[in-house]
Amino acid sequence: MIRPESKPGIEVRGAESDVELRAANDLMAKTQLPNYWDSLGWLESAGKVWAGVDRRHTRVALMDGKMVGALRLLPLLLRIGRARLNAVGVGWVSTAATHRNRGVCNALMCDALDYAEMHRCPFSLLYGVPGLYHRYGYTTMLPEYSVVVKSSAVSKNSAAWFLIRPVTKDDIPALMQIHNAHEARASCSIVRTAAHYRGQFVSSAPKTPYWCDWDSAKAILDTSGALAAYFMPQKASDELHIKELGVTGRLSCEALLHAAMTMARDADLGSVRFHVPPYHPFAWYLQEVDSVHEARHFGNREGMVALTELSVCLKAMLPEWSHRLEQNGLESCQAECTLVVGKESFRVVLDDSGLSVNKGPGRNRLVLSEQEFLRLLVGYSHVEDILARKAPRMRGNDYKFALALFPKRKPFIWPIDHF
Ligand SMILES: CC(C)(COP(=O)(O)OP(=O)(O)OC[C@H]1O[C@@H](n2cnc3c(N)ncnc32)[C@H](O)[C@@H]1OP(=O)(O)O)[C@@H](O)C(=O)NCCC(=O)NCCS
Repeated sequence: MIRPESKPGIEVRGAESDVELRAANDLMAKTQLPNYWDSLGWLESAGKVWAGVDRRHTRVALMDGKMVGALRLLPLLLRIGRARLNAVGVGWVSTAATHRNRGVCNALMCDALDYAEMHRCPFSLLYGVPGLYHRYGYTTMLPEYSVVVKSSAVSKNSAAWFLIRPVTKDDIPALMQIHNAHEARASCSIVRTAAHYRGQFVSSAPKTPYWCDWDSAKAILDTSGALAAYFMPQKASDELHIKELGVTGRLSCEALLHAAMTMARDADLGSVRFHVPPYHPFAWYLQEVDSVHEARHFGNREGMVALTELSVCLKAMLPEWSHRLEQNGLESCQAECTLVVGKESFRVVLDDSGLSVNKGPGRNRLVLSEQEFLRLLVGYSHVEDILARKAPRMRGNDYKFALALFPKRKPFIWPIDHF
């Protein structure tokens, strides 16, 4: 991706001292109003302990030695099926009100992308204001999903077998296990480690829709005392949000629904909005009650990803692609697809020696922009549509091969993993 030129006179580097870090946090919190104290609280507590983050991940922009902008980088690991891809999250992009429209944000973004390339991360991820980040190669691909259930739609009679108590840090192994069990179907979702959970437990954000609030989360126990389900509620003026949840089976779905509806009724709220993706068993369960299942897509804003290292990205996909070929009974076929992305060309070949990715020209060319490639890779686009437009003559095993590599998926990042 050809990036805009950085203007001279702006230096960007990592924060060099705790004093500088505090000044950067203050600048970022001030530009990300409406709530200065919530923003500062996150930056100084949760943001600080996010797994793998240190002081230098806060990047500052200086003009004549004065700090005029800042942003926060976050090392992330994303999943696409069995593949694991490193990404650099970019958050809190801020220019002091006195220095806007002079190229400060531009310099910070170029530095952030350099950082991703230098660390050989295939992706960079951010949540963007409208119409800004496409300049730097980012493309929108992360819809929001939720299911709304009216309080009146569910009977007050309880499934009496469960107990509810607050979630605690001791639950982290069980929370991880429950969460991971259903994320194999996800695309782009953040791989949570125990350190990631420990970081999230440090700060609570009961008022901010996307931030974590384990202090208010509830554990639902089965008759043996084991964690069967959990949920993280947040009250708004008109509905109860459940911004994170996990279940272990059908009875636990029933228990979770009942617990959330009871909480909404007790708070005089007419409905519950479960922020759950369509691949999750709780969303499947909710298809059996009166409910509205929403997908909210965005144009050139919100969850956006940029491609920073194509070759690393393609190599990281091999475990997932091999698995997909086996699932589709194609592992002993001969097939080829050549991905021409921007100025680079890679052959993805299946032959007697297995699946491989090699730089260079080849057969069955799929010529894509970086943005088209990303949306295809994560399963946001439909491969049949791309093939019809870009490779209308592809046939037989080569066509089946391309279908197997790029299935339709649901890219999704859980609300509490936003940053
Ligand atoms: C958004 C913000 C970071 C832009 O900073 P800036 O230093 O003024 O931006 P730059 O001068 O580097 O401009 C870079 C490009 O983005 C464009 N741009 C600037 N602000 C923009 C905005 N709010 N929306 C869309 N485009 C914008 C500029 O026109 C310029 O485009 P060009 O290269 O085609 O001329 C700054 O206005 C800010 O801090 N806003 C408040 C916090 C915020 O909303 N942050 C974004 C969080 S995702």
